[in-house]
Amino acid sequence: MHEQQTAEKRRVGEKAAELVEDGMIVGLGTGSTAYWFIKKLAERVAGGLRITGVATSVRTAELAESLGIRVVDVNEVGEVDLTVDGADEIDDHFNAIKGGGGALLREKIVASISRRMVVIVDSTKRVERLGRFPLPVEMVPFGYKHTLRKLEQAGCAPRLREKDGAPFVTDGGHYIVDLHLGRIDDPERLAGSIGNMPGVVEHGLFIGLVTDVLIAEDGEVRMMKRA
Ligand code: 5RP
Repeated sequence: MHEQQTAEKRRVGEKAAELVEDGMIVGLGTGSTAYWFIKKLAERVAGGLRITGVATSVRTAELAESLGIRVVDVNEVGEVDLTVDGADEIDDHFNAIKGGGGALLREKIVASISRRMVVIVDSTKRVERLGRFPLPVEMVPFGYKHTLRKLEQAGCAPRLREKDGAPFVTDGGHYIVDLHLGRIDDPERLAGSIGNMPGVVEHGLFIGLVTDVLIAEDGEVRMMKRA
C-alpha cells in the first residue's frame, strides 16, 4: 500500500475515535482503516472512557478485546449509537461498496441497527460512480456454481474469491464472489436484482445506511454529513 494512503487511513481512523462519547454502544468496523479507529479508541478506553463494542468480524472482535475494549454479541444490544467502518468506494450520494475484507454481511447488519454510521476513508475511495472496485456478493456454498452462472448470465462478470487455492470462507461460513462491473449506473436497481437471487445472502452495496463520511483529502480530514 502507498505510504500516503496508509497515513490517510491512520488520520481518519484516529479522528473518528474522537466522535465516541461515554456510555455509547459502538459498532467496530473491519479493515485497515478501522484498525486505526479501534487502536485509538482503545487508548481512550484505557484512559477511562466507558463504551461497549459490537464487532463486525471475528478479527475485529479479537483485535478490540486484545486492546481492552469490551465487546458483546450483537444480539445483546437494542441498537448501536455509532458505527465507524471503512469502505472500498463511496460516492457523493453516500452510497458505498463494502466487503473487500469479506465482512460485508456482519458489517451491514451492524450498520442497519446503527443510529449513525460514519464511513472513514482515504482519498482514493471517493468516486463519482460506484463499480470500479469489484462488488462483493456473499452466497451460500450450496449450489454456488449455479448462483455464479446466474450472475454470469445477468452480465455481472462474477469471480469466486479464493484464498490459498480454495474458496474464501466468511465468518458466517459463506463464499464471496466479486462482480467486475466497471461502473454501476443504478445502484438501487442492481441491489434489488442481486438481492433477489436464490443463494445470495448479501451484497456489498450500502445504500441509505451511511450518515457521515470522514475523508482524508489534501492533507486534512473532512467530515461530510448526509443531508
Ligand atoms: C471489509 C470492508 C472494509 O471496510 C473495506 O474493505 C475497506 O478496507 P480498508 O479500510 O482496509 O481499505 O468492507 O469487509
